[in-house]
Amino acid sequence: MVVRRTLTIDDLLAMKAGGEKIAMLTCYDATFASAMDQAGVDIILVGDSLGMVVQGKSSTVGVSVSNVEYHTSCVAKGLERIFLLADMPFGSFHDSSTAMENAVRLLSAGGAMVKLEGAGPMIEVVDYLTSRGVPVCAHLGLTPQSVNQLGGFKVQARDEAGARQLIQDAVAMQQAGAQMMVVECIPAILGREVAAEVDIPVIGIGAGIECDGQVLVMHDMLGLGGRVPRFVKNFMQESASIQAAFEAYVLAVRDRQFPTKEHEY
Ligand code: KIV
Repeated sequence: MVVRRTLTIDDLLAMKAGGEKIAMLTCYDATFASAMDQAGVDIILVGDSLGMVVQGKSSTVGVSVSNVEYHTSCVAKGLERIFLLADMPFGSFHDSSTAMENAVRLLSAGGAMVKLEGAGPMIEVVDYLTSRGVPVCAHLGLTPQSVNQLGGFKVQARDEAGARQLIQDAVAMQQAGAQMMVVECIPAILGREVAAEVDIPVIGIGAGIECDGQVLVMHDMLGLGGRVPRFVKNFMQESASIQAAFEAYVLAVRDRQFPTKEHEY
């Protein structure tokens, strides 16, 4: 989609409906954001992964709303076309009114939508936010903020019951008003089912080629990660510059060249 104005949720819904793959990356500052914009990236996520790749923590737990707010305002300055998604950190959305207050901060910093992890009680929170004008992206599957409860960064919903629950949660999130969804570290076959089950764009990370789009952490796809998960491809290996790596990523996602079987579960 060659659009030189800021993308809207309607553009992203149209991409899903038209079978055009959506390219999303995480980003935390204006310079990289501008390079991604020029490369044709569709969505930037100011992820709470900043706790790990920017702050050097061992997980995303401990990232504050102020941290995400600051990086969202930096990224927003580098953008022309990209849709900007801001992550709600751990503990910032445990009840509806706290979630509302913090979502307003992230939208005021320049986010076009907020993302929050989990289902169960979060479905009510999403309903509360969306019915008050806050655009929400759900995040299901591996939810890194719960890493201590999950016992590590592991593939989720591998069995029949887990897969059924995830599909139910995805449908419930859509009904609660979520307009986009990230699914992380789930079997590729389940990624395909979720994307077929809901009308909103489903963006996968370690969730197979049949999701409506893909997301990677910027540092990982530039080959800067320490521990490299199976679903990551280093786009710097075949690129002469960071700009070229972003362009190669966009092209690979659009042309269904990424992810391949070797990146799937
Ligand atoms: O915080 C983040 O970077 C994320 C992605 C892994 C989807 O949530």
